Amino acid sequence: MWDQRYSDPEYVYGTDPNAFLAEVAHHIPAGPVLCVGEGEGRNAVFLASRGHEVEAVDASAVGLQKAEQLAAERGVAIATTVADLAHYEIGTERWAGVVSIFCHLPADLRRRVHRAIVKGLRPGGVLLLEAYSPAQLRYRSGGPPVRELLYELDELREDFAGLDWLQAVERVRPVHEGRFHTGEGAVVQLVGVKSARA
Ligand SMILES: C[S@@+](CC[C@H](N)C(=O)[O-])C[C@H]1O[C@@H](n2cnc3c(N)ncnc32)[C@H](O)[C@@H]1O
Repeated sequence: MWDQRYSDPEYVYGTDPNAFLAEVAHHIPAGPVLCVGEGEGRNAVFLASRGHEVEAVDASAVGLQKAEQLAAERGVAIATTVADLAHYEIGTERWAGVVSIFCHLPADLRRRVHRAIVKGLRPGGVLLLEAYSPAQLRYRSGGPPVRELLYELDELREDFAGLDWLQAVERVRPVHEGRFHTGEGAVVQLVGVKSARA
């Protein structure tokens, strides 16, 4: 389904970074950043242009080819890995930042990947996440139209136990990020820092 969506020559989520990421990216300390479910690369390219070494992981080879093309056009380098997050090894205390933007996973995998992200962050490393919440079912302006793939703040706080929250909110904001994100959207937004004891 994602390869098919991305086979359009247009960047279906745009080439500008996610608006929340652009606001909060300054929280990520210097060092390598992992972007999960990165698709066509708009966020990875933005972070690389801020000086981070970036790895973009996605199950869609077609999406990541476009990510590499966008990076080349913008004169930055990114690493890409085609992988299902169910099998991708995030590692231990490896990342200064992990970025998850509209990466909606089924509950079991979501918990597993989110716990692996806590482990994968260095002490002082930062998680940035934006995703649609269940309230999005009323807006129909983007995101998966099924409750199971939408993210509740309480569940996310549990998934990411061990992070200290600089921001953990649920809000409605205008989301105009490509053809599939068009209008008021109900989102959760997280900025979490891994403390030394996590
Ligand atoms: C809505 S798109 C968001 C893309 C990108 N983060 C952005 O904001 O432009 C969701 C992405 O998650 C990826 N994805 C979903 N489930 C995945 C999984 N299990 N493993 C790897 N990637 C996955 C899809 O391939 C898709 O590119």
